[in-house]
Amino acid sequence: MIIDPASAADAEAIAQIQLAARRCAMPWLPVLHAPDAVRRYFETMVLPVEKVLVAREDMRAVGFIAVRHGWLNHLYIAPDHWGTGLGTRLLDAARADESHLQLRVFQRNARARHFYLRNGFREREPGDGRDNEEKVPDVRMDWVRVT
Ligand SMILES: CC(C)(COP(=O)(O)OP(=O)(O)OC[C@H]1O[C@@H](n2cnc3c(N)ncnc32)[C@H](O)[C@@H]1OP(=O)(O)O)[C@@H](O)C(=O)NCCC(=O)NCCS
Repeated sequence: MIIDPASAADAEAIAQIQLAARRCAMPWLPVLHAPDAVRRYFETMVLPVEKVLVAREDMRAVGFIAVRHGWLNHLYIAPDHWGTGLGTRLLDAARADESHLQLRVFQRNARARHFYLRNGFREREPGDGRDNEEKVPDVRMDWVRVT
């Protein structure tokens, strides 16, 4: 398994991982965008501006993380790789040169909330969903490096 910076060529694989991980982890989440639109979103709005790292097994992308301006905007692992420590490895690689990170996670996403708590994040204020696209209640979490 290697972790390296994403390139524009990763857009399709990243979109597929995000769609599959969301479907498995959050079947109750409204699906607002078609697969093509998700790929275009990563291609044009995420990959050119965010720090994106990809985990690859052989040549296949199996997880990715995206960070920008202290926000962890995306962390998705292919469902057949959950629970193998990959999420932790990607998180540690992405925050190696960060002093703090924050994120928003859906309240019902118990697995992810547990994952972030285990990795040093704290739950801050809950949101009623008005600030996210899906309009589903979420919670802001943050992590600060202890020196
Ligand atoms: C949340 C998510 C990123 C976690 O990734 P992951 O790769 O499953 O996380 P890890 O494997 O690092 O940690 C999960 C569990 O595996 C365990 N684990 C860690 N290293 C391990 C290893 N080498 N072997 C086996 N298990 C391991 C961890 O201990 C943890 O379990 P615990 O907290 O009960 O102890 C992943 O489940 C996911 O993609 N979910 C869907 C998308 C999502 O919700 N993203 C977050 C949106 S905000």
